[in-house]
Amino acid sequence: MLAGKHILLGITGGIAAYKTPELIRLLKAAGAEVKVVCSPQALEFVTPLTLSVVSGNPVVHALYDPNSGEWINHVNLALWADLIVLAPFTVNSLSALVQGKTENAVLVATLCARCPVILVPAMDHDMWVHNTTQRNILQAKELGYHIIEPDYGSLASGLVGHGRMPEPEALVIHLTLFKKLKPWWLGKRFLVSSGGTREALDPVRFISNRSTGKMGVALAEAASVNGAHVTIIRTKGSKIPTLKGMECIEVETALEMQTAIQERAENYDVIGMAAAVADYRIANVNTQKIKKTSEGFPTFDWIENPDILKSLAFKKRNYLLLGFALESKQSLEQAKIKFEKKGVDVLALNTLDNSGAGFEVDTNKVTLITSDSTHELELKSKTEIALEILNFVATCTIKSR
Ligand code: CTP
Repeated sequence: MLAGKHILLGITGGIAAYKTPELIRLLKAAGAEVKVVCSPQALEFVTPLTLSVVSGNPVVHALYDPNSGEWINHVNLALWADLIVLAPFTVNSLSALVQGKTENAVLVATLCARCPVILVPAMDHDMWVHNTTQRNILQAKELGYHIIEPDYGSLASGLVGHGRMPEPEALVIHLTLFKKLKPWWLGKRFLVSSGGTREALDPVRFISNRSTGKMGVALAEAASVNGAHVTIIRTKGSKIPTLKGMECIEVETALEMQTAIQERAENYDVIGMAAAVADYRIANVNTQKIKKTSEGFPTFDWIENPDILKSLAFKKRNYLLLGFALESKQSLEQAKIKFEKKGVDVLALNTLDNSGAGFEVDTNKVTLITSDSTHELELKSKTEIALEILNFVATCTIKSR
């Protein structure tokens, strides 16, 4: 999705500059063309040689060439870019930017931009929370700059707090998803479940399924990057890292998931049930580890789990409900029956007979079903599918009860 994009990376003088060669490498691997402009202070942390080798382009770090006296055309550099990313962006650079100062090549190129500019501030905690910085951030937003907020974690000072530049992988996800959803999503509250629930047999064993939670995470990330307030209810054991900037609640069983969702549901505009919820659980969970004996196999009494999606659907509600269906045969027919039975507004059907779709893969093939339409999407990455689903949801309405 970044293929062919021209990205101008502006690096200023903070310790997080050490992460930029890896960021450039990942952007290039995603198909983007990257050019780099640096402030003189940035070169105390990362060398122009490294940056030019990884980007495959010369690095601009001055306003003119001191040897020849030749002026460097920063205007062209800015006009070349489809997107300008300033990372790391120091407290000093932020202050200069909002005042319209042009004291180095990064600021000059940024002031010439006609494309979106994303600031990735990185600094120590106390600088980040300082009123002056927060005022400058607010002003930068008013001036039309986009901000990727710093992460919480260990800082160069030895303190722990807000101010870390997000890791390159997370930045690439953010840049990939940036401005890809309809503005409808801006400020919307989105609750999404993901992963397979676990139902205990005893203290060490459980029954689960092959869901990795990738689809739910892709939905959560796409909505969050595009301005929605996101809560993800994910199951334990899900290994996929989620982006910062969203509320993340961990549950284990179907009952825990039901409680977590029901107590929040009314606060959301859209609820997506991407989790693979176990239909049954064990009634007589052993409190001790089940021992192997010669007296036959252990037996269990099964009990039905609540259908979370259905219980969210059939009531007077203000949230739009997105359900998922996994079918292995007569898929569309079965999904249409499920659509009615579950009472959702949109049902996203995954079929197991499509290679490249379903569990433990990065791609998916989905058909979107509403009361009066059926849309078959192409096989695509889960990220692209998530964007298509959410853009489709933005055009839907809540069924009146
Ligand atoms: N779902 C739910 N609660 C359950 C079971 C499923 O909320 N106890 C939700 C899933 O999150 C999904 C949708 O219902 O959004 C359909 O799930 P799926 O596994 O396809 O269908 P089931 O309802 O389990 O029916 P079946 O297994 O018979 O296909």
